Parts: sequence; structure tokens; C-alpha cells
Amino acid sequence: MRTAIFYFSGTGNSLVVARKISAKLGDTTITNMATIEKQRIELNVKRIGIVFPVYIFGIPLIVQRFIQNLHIDCDIYTFAVATHGGLPCATLTQAEKLFVENGSRLSAGFQVLMVDNAAQIADIIPREKQQKRFAKAERQIDTICRAIGEGKNEIYRGNPMTNWIFSAMYKKAVPDLPGFDKNFVYDEKCNACGICEKLCPMNNVVISERHPVWLHHCEQCMACFHWCPRAAIQYGPKTGARSRYHHPEVEVADMVLR
Ligand SMILES: Cc1cc2nc3c(=O)[nH]c(=O)nc-3n(C[C@H](O)[C@H](O)[C@H](O)COP(=O)(O)O)c2cc1C
Repeated sequence: MRTAIFYFSGTGNSLVVARKISAKLGDTTITNMATIEKQRIELNVKRIGIVFPVYIFGIPLIVQRFIQNLHIDCDIYTFAVATHGGLPCATLTQAEKLFVENGSRLSAGFQVLMVDNAAQIADIIPREKQQKRFAKAERQIDTICRAIGEGKNEIYRGNPMTNWIFSAMYKKAVPDLPGFDKNFVYDEKCNACGICEKLCPMNNVVISERHPVWLHHCEQCMACFHWCPRAAIQYGPKTGARSRYHHPEVEVADMVLR
């Protein structure tokens, strides 16, 4: 096997990007990093890639832990792809630092603009705009695969001023993300179908007494919110009228890990 890709995804954007990169590179395996949490990862491949969303202007906690558990030789070509909704900021520089701290290196870091799934903050962009983003992402993925194929060393670093402004918010909010699930509530539309429990990548949702309960080790991927077939899960008081989103090329079955 030449390439191993590991991804994390709540609404399918990063999964789709991982799949497309894998198809273009060929001879590649794709693994959800949530299925190998806490395992020491030693691999003998030519290339290792990680694909994941940007959370609060930086790298998600699960991706941090994944890099810390990765034990690979310095001569393996590594790449990271951050999918995002418009503000990737210093996410890839953060990933680079984690690789170095762990005794390896990040060869290349790319960003892909997708649909912003942070419906707890704002509504999802309309379908027509989503389609335009997907078309642009296809072209970006072509460029990324060419760069990987050529073994390029380049890391997207964002704008230093923007990074500086938003890094304070990242540092303040991200350590508390696991407990932010206290803001999830279910409403009267919930019929305890259990889809939220099945597709939470973190095993953070259980159905108890015919309703979902969140266990406070959340990554904030919003999968429970977006995939609920009855839109019965809300995040705080403002999401009732907001659209639900998932990438159109991904289905519930693709998200269920266990
Ligand atoms: C909790 C949370 C925080 C987010 N923060 C950012 C952000 O700071 N900058 C950004 O561009 N997108 C942000 N997003 C949007 C996601 O990075 C983007 O939609 C990503 O493609 C989702 O990938 P997925 O479908 O694989 O989960 C955020 C999304 C969530 C759920």
C-alpha cells in the first residue's frame, strides 16, 4: 500500500475530500481516526494523509490526539487537508507543529473551502451556493493531488494578522469543546430512533429512557444535529429554523462506524 489516509468528519465534507484524494492517488486506504482513538499508530507506507474539519479557527482535539499517537519515520511524506467554511486560519501550522513535536514532520498542508456546517453559529448557505463550492473544491482537490504526486513541500499558513486575532479564541474555546454538548437538546419531534447514537463518531450520545443523552466527551462535529431525520435535535435556542446539512455524496451508512 502506498498511501494511508485518516479522516475525521461530522457531516461528510472531509470524508468526501478524503475519498476523492484516495481515488485520484490510487492504492490508498481510508480510515476514520475515531475508530482507532488512543491506539499507537505505526505504519509502513510511502505517504500518510489526514483530512479533517477546522473547528474554532484551528485543529480539532481528536486530530491533535491522532497526531500525538502517530509514530512514523521522518522520511515518510505526510500531508494534511483542512476542510473549512472560510476561515482556516493557522490550522495547518498547528498541525505542522504537532508533527514536529512528535518527532516527525508535515510535508504539505492544504485547505479546501466546503460548506460551513456550524449551524450553531449561523444558517447553512443555500443549495445553489453549496454546488458552486463543491465544483471549486473538485478543482482544488485536483491541484492538491498533483502536489502530493510531485511530493511538494508546501503548507498553507493563512494570514498572520487574521491568525493572531483568531488564535486567542481557539485557545480559549477549544479545551472546553467536550462539555459544550450541554447545549444540545431534543424536542418533541424526537422518536428515539437512535440514529444520533449510531453515528456519533465519539460514542458521546446514548438513547436513555427514549431520548438522547450527551456524555460530555463531544468534539462538536454536529453529526447528531445535522443527521437527525426529524430535525429534532437543537443546539441552544436559535437552531429550530436553521437548515440541516450533510454532503450530498454521503449517507447515514457511511457515517456509522460501529
Ligand atoms: C464547532 C465547529 C466550529 C467550526 N469552526 C470553523 C472555523 O473556525 N473556520 C471555518 O472556516 N470553518 C469552521 N467550521 C466549519 C467546518 O470546518 C466545515 O464545515 C467542515 O468542512 C466540516 O467538515 P465535516 O463535514 O467533515 O465535518 C466549524 C464547524 C463546527 C461544527
